[in-house]
Amino acid sequence: MGDEESPFRKTVLEGKVALITGGGSGICFEIATQFGLHGAKVAIMGRRKHMLDAAVASLQSLGIKAMGVQGDVRRKEDASRTVEAVITEMGRLDILINGAAGNFLVSPEDLSPNGFKTVMDIDTLGTFTMCHAAVNYLKEGGKGKGPTECGVIISISATLHYSASWYQIHVSAAKAAVDSLTRSLALEWGTDYGIRCNAIAPGPIAETPGTYKLVPEESGITSGQTLLEKWGDKWDIAMTAIFLAAETGKYINGAVLPVDGGQWLSKPRHISKEQLRQFSRVVEQRSRTVKLPNSKL
Ligand code: COA
Repeated sequence: MGDEESPFRKTVLEGKVALITGGGSGICFEIATQFGLHGAKVAIMGRRKHMLDAAVASLQSLGIKAMGVQGDVRRKEDASRTVEAVITEMGRLDILINGAAGNFLVSPEDLSPNGFKTVMDIDTLGTFTMCHAAVNYLKEGGKGKGPTECGVIISISATLHYSASWYQIHVSAAKAAVDSLTRSLALEWGTDYGIRCNAIAPGPIAETPGTYKLVPEESGITSGQTLLEKWGDKWDIAMTAIFLAAETGKYINGAVLPVDGGQWLSKPRHISKEQLRQFSRVVEQRSRTVKLPNSKL
């Protein structure tokens, strides 16, 4: 998927430079592609050079001005070097997408403290490290920017931690922290520097490394379990990112937007609608006529 027609003008991100961590594959590669097709120059950051090279070549083949920087968001030197490389090559930085993430299914008793820390380091600390490295360029009036242009940060979160999710204690904790730092930065950098900081919480998205890892063939699960009974597409997340990054999102700051077809709300239905119709009014009627033992009414 990802080839649906965009509802946005092709120039909606013209003149913007976006740095996308984890942009070499999956959801974030689709964000890089759609940002490029809507006028932005895009830089993607990732650990694996061969994936970055292939992704940059693919973006360039679509006529997108793109560059790749090899680096690990856990390392602050890599974060600063990446941001500097973007400024040197592309002249400015307007949008930071924090997409780099780590995940695997594991029960808490089988997860070592270092395994827990590894995911916290990539998802949470990595997100903060990249924001910290980029803030001086995202500020109003940052290098190459006019005095009233504001930067945008979008972090890719999740819905796992809205209640609790099996075998995801590490990622749930990491993404809960990402949501928290999204709101803190929205407050502080929104007020002080005009930077808008939001997050997108995708549901199950088809054809992504996350899905291959979390819903492997071996699990026997073949379709998403959203209320709409279908998987989301990478395109859904990319369009949401454009909406938040462009003028359409100019009044949105500190939001964590679930894009999951309503899955996080879903609960098993405990009574059929037919049953409900049969007894709901009877119960209501009874409650109006029967006096409860201690009722003073
Ligand atoms: N079950 C239990 N523990 C696991 C594990 C698994 N499936 N995979 C890794 N770990 C543990 C390791 O055992 C290690 O802990 P230890 O030192 O106590 O043994 C710790 O996690 C770090 O593993 P390591 O392989 O050294 O980390 P890494 O930095 O090379 O890789 C990962 C990080 C593990 C998150 C890796 O899956 C990754 O790079 N993911 C990025 C891509 C991705 O996950 N995309 C999907 C995003 S939704």
